[in-house]
Amino acid sequence: MSASVCVTVTLLMSVVGSQALDLLRVTTTSGDPPSTPTVHCWCSNYPNATFCTWPKPSRSPPTHYIATYSERHGQNSTERCHLIPPGSSSSISAPSSASDDLWRCYLPNLKLLTDYIINITAVHSEGSSSHLMIFMMEDIVKPDPPVQVRVSPHNVRNLMVKWSAPPTWTSLDIFPLKYHIRYQWNNRGTPMSSNLGPLEDTKIELKGLTPGRTYLFQVCARELLGLGECSNWSSPVEITIPRTKP
Ligand SMILES: *[C@@H]1O[C@H](CO)[C@@H](O)[C@H](O)[C@H]1NC(C)=O
Ligand SMILES: *[C@@H]1O[C@H](CO)[C@@H](O)[C@H](O)[C@H]1NC(C)=O
Ligand SMILES: *[C@@H]1O[C@H](CO)[C@@H](O)[C@H](O)[C@H]1NC(C)=O
Ligand SMILES: *[C@@H]1O[C@H](CO)[C@@H](O)[C@H](O)[C@H]1NC(C)=O
Repeated sequence: MSASVCVTVTLLMSVVGSQALDLLRVTTTSGDPPSTPTVHCWCSNYPNATFCTWPKPSRSPPTHYIATYSERHGQNSTERCHLIPPGSSSSISAPSSASDDLWRCYLPNLKLLTDYIINITAVHSEGSSSHLMIFMMEDIVKPDPPVQVRVSPHNVRNLMVKWSAPPTWTSLDIFPLKYHIRYQWNNRGTPMSSNLGPLEDTKIELKGLTPGRTYLFQVCARELLGLGECSNWSSPVEITIPRTKP
């Protein structure tokens, strides 16, 4: 019996922006290598809710996953991450964008300003592969997008843009958000775009817009002190400035 066992260790010491650090991927196999889960982690409700997700493999799914995390420099034992299979509804308020073909795991009660290491291991009958990642919650903060963006005419030729904080960000009084506004229009076929902010307010009045022109408005939310990154843009809201009679 000569089952050839192959161990692949890939060092991925790249930091993309302030994103989590992909520490290393380890694949132990005999035969076809199982796919290593590609894991993405973010904190949508600082300091409470950190989620990691990875896609359900399209073919040869693992028999199961083992998801653990621990403090990088801590003496304490490894904790198991709360695994949520694709398509299951959970009592935990999962990110609204959570799609049905993603595995998710939930990491409650992480300590502030602490490096964590997460290990997502896909176990196959013929071997296993692990994705290890280091992150600090502060670096991976990304709120959900603001909601209820509404745009209405205000005074003559002006617009009022209003929105509400993402409801999933529950510590708004302790960790306020700031907002960026993007508006886009077409100038004789050329796409144009302009940004406003950051603002702490949840409304802004815009002046000097062109009558007859159509604008698309979007808002993103970021932690006030600048932790992590801005949320995804909210879905665009369209408005056409009325033509004023001469
Ligand atoms: C280990 O865990 C205990 C209880 O949760 C905690 O009080 C202690 O500070 C932790 N030790 C380290 C080194 O993080
Ligand atoms: C943000 O946008 C990306 C790319 O469109 C998408 O994959 C992701 O699920 C979105 N995240 C949230 C929280 O809406
Ligand atoms: C990752 O988790 C797997 C499964 O629990 C374990 O076998 C492996 O040793 C872990 N890797 C590291 C580097 O801790
Ligand atoms: C956030 O976590 C803290 C500490 O566990 C808890 O006291 C608080 O109620 C949580 N807040 C929300 C909105 O989940």
